[in-house]
Amino acid sequence: MVDASVGGKLGVDFEGFKNHIGVFQEPLAVFIDAIYLETLEKQELRSGFAEIIKHNLIADSDAWQEMKKKGIADFDWVETIKHSIAIKADVTTQDPTEKGLRKILNFGHTLGHAVESYFLPIQGKKLLHGEAIAIGMIVESWLACERSYIKASELKEITNYILKIYGKVNISPDQVKAIVPLTLQDKKNESNVVLFSLLEKIGKANYNIEISENEMYDAMYYYISL
Ligand code: GLY
Repeated sequence: MVDASVGGKLGVDFEGFKNHIGVFQEPLAVFIDAIYLETLEKQELRSGFAEIIKHNLIADSDAWQEMKKKGIADFDWVETIKHSIAIKADVTTQDPTEKGLRKILNFGHTLGHAVESYFLPIQGKKLLHGEAIAIGMIVESWLACERSYIKASELKEITNYILKIYGKVNISPDQVKAIVPLTLQDKKNESNVVLFSLLEKIGKANYNIEISENEMYDAMYYYISL
């Protein structure tokens, strides 16, 4: 409701990699009724919620400050969905085919997709998209803190909030060694450089930020040591 409904991005996973084939194609109309959320398993609702967290972190610091005080059961979904869609629509209207600004929507998705791809073929270990992106947002916030874009206290708040909702996924150092190279498959890269969309501050994101392999390892080690 808050992500794929807006901006016409249609991607499919191919040969174990996320969204490697796709087109931009807007539908004639999108109908959303929050009542359908009642048909979802809790885990699926929580997965979609990750994109709401993302939208607030990249575009609305006031909404993030409010969100921090609430658990997932405390949200008015109609208002929350409207607000989240408005953020996404504002970005995709300015840059429908992801030449620049739209890349901010990939915050949490570079290492998040690598984590998701890693677990895709592992029987019984599959992470839902939002669960992987939740990890991605923690590790990519660590990178933003490392680059002094956000404060250590802000990293801590983001980490604590996400962990409270999603819990911690056990990832071993050996698995990190397999996950980090998967970022080289990310569709946002140019040549062999891995480009990230990071929080420039709470409520604003930047994009095309070059991150080294070592920084990615350190970011993942931050998560696994939590
Ligand atoms: N889901 C990110 C985008 O539509 O660009």
